[in-house]
Amino acid sequence: MEIPTWPRVPCPEPAVARTLVLGWLLLQVAGASGTSEVVVAYNLTWKSINFKTILEWEPKPINHVYTVRISPRLGNWKSKCFYIRDTECDLTDEIVKDVTQTYRARVLSYPADINDYYGDPPFTDSPEFTPYVDTKLGQAKIQSFKQVGTKLNVTIQDARTLVRRNGTFQSLQDVFGKNLSYTLYYWKASSTGKKTAQTDTNEFLIDVDEGENYCFSVQVAIPSRKANQKSTESSTECTSHEKGMFRGEWLCPAFIWEARTTSRGLVHPQNQDGLLFGEKQPSCCYCCLSVLCCSGGTQQF
Ligand SMILES: *[C@@H]1O[C@H](CO)[C@@H](O)[C@H](O)[C@H]1NC(C)=O
Ligand SMILES: *[C@@H]1O[C@H](CO)[C@@H](O)[C@H](O)[C@H]1NC(C)=O
Ligand SMILES: *[C@@H]1O[C@H](CO)[C@@H](O)[C@H](O)[C@H]1NC(C)=O
Ligand SMILES: *[C@@H]1O[C@H](CO)[C@@H](O)[C@H](O)[C@H]1NC(C)=O
Repeated sequence: MEIPTWPRVPCPEPAVARTLVLGWLLLQVAGASGTSEVVVAYNLTWKSINFKTILEWEPKPINHVYTVRISPRLGNWKSKCFYIRDTECDLTDEIVKDVTQTYRARVLSYPADINDYYGDPPFTDSPEFTPYVDTKLGQAKIQSFKQVGTKLNVTIQDARTLVRRNGTFQSLQDVFGKNLSYTLYYWKASSTGKKTAQTDTNEFLIDVDEGENYCFSVQVAIPSRKANQKSTESSTECTSHEKGMFRGEWLCPAFIWEARTTSRGLVHPQNQDGLLFGEKQPSCCYCCLSVLCCSGGTQQF
């Protein structure tokens, strides 16, 4: 308990000592305010989907700027995003050079007036990042589907990445090979009981009941991973057996509407009921391919 008693300790020249201490304190405060404009980055986070990779951090700079450096674990630092006022830096170009490497990044803080600055800027290091393991899988997309008889054929889009090999961009399947697995969830449109099918190619050919409509969605995954295993599911698509009719019913009102609005824009006031509508009618009929639909359309004009 020496500190509380310290002021009472007899001292030969208390006034001088106090002045010195005060002076030292003032110097410290002045020094601190000089560098307090340079704030170190914190909360460095890798955001990476299908190898598109961005490093983010905080805070928004007020009176300083950032530069980012990146390096493979055993390589040299390379600077990116020089003296920026953003709080993110796209490092895709660097990490696609070798997606199986482990990278580290560093965010350096410089005063905004960089010309007067000499010395080593303060910095913060990111967590390590291994693209092959850490990049997330983008939402799966259905590329095409077809139901013929008792077969349903669904093809999943093989997403393109920015990874290059021999100068050509690689797809997700090129990069992950057999490590990538594809899942199809499907169900009869008239029920909710879901079934699942899995392949290691992006194409499904499954047996279905003839004449039934089916709905389905897809997902890609890397089962060997410990984290970030699965993409989010694609949106749902459904087959439709009365496709032609469906098209007619949905497209025709749209075309009639379009014909009316575009014509209205062109027509002169004096021939409001005139020729321009007539000119549009054949295109409506052509698209609808249905007499009923066309006569309905004509009545509307
Ligand atoms: C760090 O970032 C994450 C997401 O980017 C956010 O949820 C979290 O609140 C941040 N932490 C701090 C201390 O700001
Ligand atoms: C399934 O559809 C895809 C894309 O349309 C096609 O390339 C493929 O040959 C089809 N597979 C079968 C077995 O019909
Ligand atoms: C890339 O090019 C080299 C030689 O130029 C060739 O041996 C190799 O097979 C090529 N790889 C691919 C995946 O095309
Ligand atoms: C699958 O991933 C592991 C590491 O997670 C890797 O060692 C292996 O080469 C990969 N296989 C293919 C075919 O890409």
